[in-house]
Amino acid sequence: MALTVTDLFAGGGGSSEGLRRAGYDIWIATNHWPVSVATHQTNHPDTEHRTADLTNTSFGTYPRTDVLWASPSCTRHSVASRTRQGSTEDELRRDTADKVDRATAFAVLAAAEIHGYEAVIVENVREFQNWVLFPMWLAGMRALGYREQIVHLNAAEVGPVPVAQDRRRLFIVFTRDGRVDLTVPTVPRTPVTTILDPDAPFEVLGDRRLYVSPQIDSIPDIDVPHVVTYRRNAKPRRADTQQLYTITAGGNHHALAMRTADGPVHRWLTTLELSRAQGFSDSYVFTGTDSQVRRQIGNAVAVNVAQFLGERVAAALGEQQPDLVAA
Ligand SMILES: C[S@@+](CC[C@H](N)C(=O)[O-])C[C@H]1O[C@@H](n2cnc3c(N)ncnc32)[C@H](O)[C@@H]1O
Repeated sequence: MALTVTDLFAGGGGSSEGLRRAGYDIWIATNHWPVSVATHQTNHPDTEHRTADLTNTSFGTYPRTDVLWASPSCTRHSVASRTRQGSTEDELRRDTADKVDRATAFAVLAAAEIHGYEAVIVENVREFQNWVLFPMWLAGMRALGYREQIVHLNAAEVGPVPVAQDRRRLFIVFTRDGRVDLTVPTVPRTPVTTILDPDAPFEVLGDRRLYVSPQIDSIPDIDVPHVVTYRRNAKPRRADTQQLYTITAGGNHHALAMRTADGPVHRWLTTLELSRAQGFSDSYVFTGTDSQVRRQIGNAVAVNVAQFLGERVAAALGEQQPDLVAA
């Protein structure tokens, strides 16, 4: 029998997709954003879907599964977001619905207390560990009988086929004995060229200057495609040997550029290319407008990383419970 999993903060489904590939049955997936629930529903039609605010959810109504995956909202933990949105004090003074954002992590404790999952996998930005309540949150999981293993994984380094994107994230794997093998074998990196649509047309820039023009000017070779990134201090990266900078949820940041004998050329990466850089297959369907699709892709857990963690947790649980993974 396959292991069953609950996916909280399931978004467009990177975590579920990776766990599905690792052999799990995705029993239930929840998010408060109807657009991402629709995407998840389209690609995981056999999963039960709930559209709900997980800071205000009674997990007694959820089925118990073997494993819980949770990607609590990380927008308030990231350094970029603190600069943009002000201090914690500023955040608390605001009277908006999203001010309870940090509370999303407590949904993990609430669900785990009720269901006592065999394993819980939590994904977040690395700054989550700097949260003032992180020690308390972790102590809560220990009080529930879990032992944690904390790893920082870069999706560009996790095989068998890493994605063509540097994406470093924090993963906390909770099991009863804390003995999941999380060592990452060294595998070759995947270059950006593998995700590119060869037919996507470039725009000839002529004299037009862009935010990334200094990056394009610094490309040493003619006719060699480079990724240029709309982000401060970004450097051009050779598409045939390097990876994208991290894809984020807000806006359009990644483009391809080249110096040619006729001057510089430029094009944006398409949503298909971005979804490939998160490890989704081309048949994966995202619903919503272009910016909503980009948001779901940018928010996703890289599929290869979720698959890796799913496989390692299944192997560890299998050692304790051979009947669970016999099929
Ligand atoms: C990091 S993303 C999750 C990514 C997802 N695991 C994936 O792989 O695609 C966090 C998600 O939490 C959702 N979210 C934020 N606050 C929420 C809340 N209070 N209740 C439910 N979902 C929430 C956001 O809409 C976002 O899709």
